[in-house]
Amino acid sequence: MLSLPKTFSSDDTTSLFESITNDIVDKGYSIRPYALPEHLAQLLLQHVTMLDEEKFKRAGIGRANDHVVNDFIRTDEICWITGNSDAGSAWIKWSESLRIYLNRHLFLGLFSFESHFAHYAKGDFYKTHTDAFKGEGNRMLSVVVYLNQYWLPDDGGELVIYDKQQSTSAVIDNSVIKVTPNFGTIVVFLSEEFPHEVLPAKRDRYSIAGWFRLNNSIANNIDPPS
Ligand code: OGA
Ligand code: MN
Repeated sequence: MLSLPKTFSSDDTTSLFESITNDIVDKGYSIRPYALPEHLAQLLLQHVTMLDEEKFKRAGIGRANDHVVNDFIRTDEICWITGNSDAGSAWIKWSESLRIYLNRHLFLGLFSFESHFAHYAKGDFYKTHTDAFKGEGNRMLSVVVYLNQYWLPDDGGELVIYDKQQSTSAVIDNSVIKVTPNFGTIVVFLSEEFPHEVLPAKRDRYSIAGWFRLNNSIANNIDPPS
């Protein structure tokens, strides 16, 4: 049996949150390999592999009325995470701890969090996109976590992160930033600043994608759509 801590307040968690915060301040993104607490990653993996196939739905693009499935842009399937399972509620608790830490240290005013599991079957991909657009959405920070054990270099499925200014070149020294979707790796980035894509994987690939949002009314006051 896996036992769960009541809160995520250990020294390890604090120093992880501190590293993520510093990375965001320095670069606008953070990549932390194998950083998710082991018991939480195990619980999430166990949960996602036991979820019924029918709970996963083809992911779309766009919001509300503009929401459409588009085979040329993304082919993965998703399942929104709720607190109705041990794994879901432990994940929400962890992300809530991160939200509070970021607000305390960066005064970001992050208000809420939404997240889903994603399953990329062999060959699935998600072409270059941005998670939020200025004036449109209120997604502020994106969080991605990987749940794949023993990922090999040949398995593909990397997350590629680009710089907004030159979306054909990469963030560092024109060399592409590729993140291997290894078990427990955490990626956090400013949602409006970094176009990114998921390369086709050669095996099943499981991830969680989540977004910290601003309160819409506050966001509209600070940054009214022009
Ligand atoms: C997304 C996304 C990245 C990944 O769902 O918006 O960019 O590596 N996911 O799964
Ligand atoms: Mn994305």
